[in-house]
Amino acid sequence: MFHLARHPSETFYATHGLQSYAAKCSPPLVRYGLHYYAKPNELVLDPMVGSDATLVEASLRGRHAIGFDIAPLARLIAQVKAHPLHDESIAYAAEKIITRTQRDVFALKTKRHTAALDECATPPEFMNRDHWFHPHVATQVLAEMGNAISKLP
Ligand SMILES: C[S@@+](CC[C@H](N)C(=O)[O-])C[C@H]1O[C@@H](n2cnc3c(N)ncnc32)[C@H](O)[C@@H]1O
Repeated sequence: MFHLARHPSETFYATHGLQSYAAKCSPPLVRYGLHYYAKPNELVLDPMVGSDATLVEASLRGRHAIGFDIAPLARLIAQVKAHPLHDESIAYAAEKIITRTQRDVFALKTKRHTAALDECATPPEFMNRDHWFHPHVATQVLAEMGNAISKLP
């Protein structure tokens, strides 16, 4: 028995909610199509994959699927959303982020700024900057970002 989504939470399960895409197909609609039109061993093709509702649904239902898209952003979103990650690689990435953040926050709190932190301590002008960011928050965010970016390989 299928019903189309009545509430946003019904379309945000698995990785469907990772990114909003203007022309996203409703996952329950894709699920309906896969159930009735794709046999278990058939290959599903979405030649305009968009934000990837089809590949994610196919994967959840044990169907093999491939997708294409002319837009690089859509391809990137699709790769991220349909690429299963092992718990170990998620834990490894989380550990790295936490370690870096703790180190940078400690440097900020103890005023042991690196040159990179000092260099980019002045937030640029942009529309509504002061509406969205309190001045000391803008400076801190900028410093953190500059520091992290400067250390990228
Ligand atoms: C409505 S969205 C697709 C939604 C998607 N099938 C889903 O399940 O959510 C349409 C997509 O088609 C892509 N597109 C448009 N023209 C294309 C073309 N000639 N070749 C490949 N992709 C194309 C667009 O970039 C856009 O991401």
